[in-house]
Amino acid sequence: MSEKQDRYAHLLAKAEEKFNIVQELQQKGLVCLDGDFVPSVHYPPITQYPEVTQDFILGDYTVPADGKIDVYVHIPFCEKRCLFCHYPGKLGRQQEEKDKYLSYLKKEMDIYLDVLGLEKIKPRSILLGGGTPTYLTPEQLEYFLKFLTDRIDMSSCAQFNVDLDPNSIMDEDGQRRMEIMKEYGVTRLTIGVQSLNDEVLKLMNRAHDADRAVRAVERSMDMGFEVNAEFIYGHPGQTLENWIEVMDKAVTLPAHELQFYRLKVQAYGDGQGAIINNRTNRSAVPIPDFKETMMMKQISYDILEESGYHENLRRVFSKQRKIFSHYAYNQCCNLYDQIGFGLTAFSSYRDRFALNTQSFEEYYAKIDNNMLPVNRGYKRDKEQQARWAIILPIKNRDVRKADYRRITGFEFDDVFKKKVERLKRNGLIYEDERTVGLTPLGKFLADEVAEEFNSVEFLPFPRSNYAEGELNPYLNNTTEDAIGDA
Ligand SMILES: C[S@@+](CC[C@H](N)C(=O)[O-])C[C@H]1O[C@@H](n2cnc3c(N)ncnc32)[C@H](O)[C@@H]1O
Ligand code: SF4
Repeated sequence: MSEKQDRYAHLLAKAEEKFNIVQELQQKGLVCLDGDFVPSVHYPPITQYPEVTQDFILGDYTVPADGKIDVYVHIPFCEKRCLFCHYPGKLGRQQEEKDKYLSYLKKEMDIYLDVLGLEKIKPRSILLGGGTPTYLTPEQLEYFLKFLTDRIDMSSCAQFNVDLDPNSIMDEDGQRRMEIMKEYGVTRLTIGVQSLNDEVLKLMNRAHDADRAVRAVERSMDMGFEVNAEFIYGHPGQTLENWIEVMDKAVTLPAHELQFYRLKVQAYGDGQGAIINNRTNRSAVPIPDFKETMMMKQISYDILEESGYHENLRRVFSKQRKIFSHYAYNQCCNLYDQIGFGLTAFSSYRDRFALNTQSFEEYYAKIDNNMLPVNRGYKRDKEQQARWAIILPIKNRDVRKADYRRITGFEFDDVFKKKVERLKRNGLIYEDERTVGLTPLGKFLADEVAEEFNSVEFLPFPRSNYAEGELNPYLNNTTEDAIGDA
């Protein structure tokens, strides 16, 4: 066997071994029987929020004592629709619609400032996402960044992130967009590379090829941005072999961070992307099965480790530990407050979440009436707060017991005793005096382990979708099991 064949055989054998362990945990009820998953990104899950009024969410809300609130802004426009994408948005040039949207976004910010009684927002970090914020023309981008930063105290902001696709920084306006972002203080770019295999990129209906994605990363690095490159695994067209090739190229990219998403076929938001047809339509390119997808995940871990990467926040890897998304860390690990502006954006305020409307018409109509475009939300009680303060930090990094006490009023040692004990016994979490976190095996199944702490009404799948083993998430999951009789 050649050295290359030998390495491939070794990677595949290790990945197969991991899959056997996953199957054992599936039999114990941790992983859903059909292998499907729902990423644990909010708690309760965003799709399950009831309708609420602005007053219900913000009537008794007070800005944190230090005045800091992170900022998210959503720009729902893209060049074209990627096969795997579920995010609602308008496609193509849409110049008038973009102008209109930006003018409403500006007004939404003003309504918010008024409601919160603030002159400016003081964020620790900012994230612009979408959609593709850089799919605005340079003039629109400048107009947007000007009115945004006029309403923000930028002196408090340690990191300013923008999510984008390679095309929007590599086309004829790309250089100008990069310069504008620099001018307005953007520090970190998350670039949707998705794959480095041209066949797969074509199947994804991406607007760029691998070479352009690599050049987008290089150009961003040359301009002095911190760079995070995003990938998807488990997508049609991917095989174990071509995924190893993509991973081998990914680790040679000059990016500071590499981020890996497992393909989500069934949407967990309101829209459903076209990818679902690849499951049902027999003439479409098939989606890799659960086993192949788990093996791809293990291959990613192994190649990243081989190349000196650490998982700083879940599914985001870098060689330097000090490099990570402050926005994600602030919101998911520190549980700091954050406001989301724009269509479908969500806000997280200590014990509550608010979600903006999903339709352009309703978004415009509410703002025309001088109202915030919030239409759904949730206020957590003591029990749900005790769950939230484990789920997000454990999924993304670890739970610091002192923070847990400060946020929930509970000692960590007094809550979820049976679950914690079982997860420890199965080698999924560790605990020491100060922290509780995922073991390497727990990290591999981070969504499933975090969801063990969801209350039964917020579990992603019905009980019949899980084996009746000791890790079935419905077991030992009453209020009393969670927080005793507190
Ligand atoms: C909201 S998208 C925006 C990125 C940017 N518009 C782009 O496409 O380059 C953020 C990231 O989520 C990931 N993503 C989107 N849809 C997904 C899906 N169905 N399953 C898994 N990951 C997905 C992709 O890696 C994508 O880059
Ligand atoms: S993945 Fe990005 S570029 Fe593609 S449709 Fe979704 S938001 Fe737009």
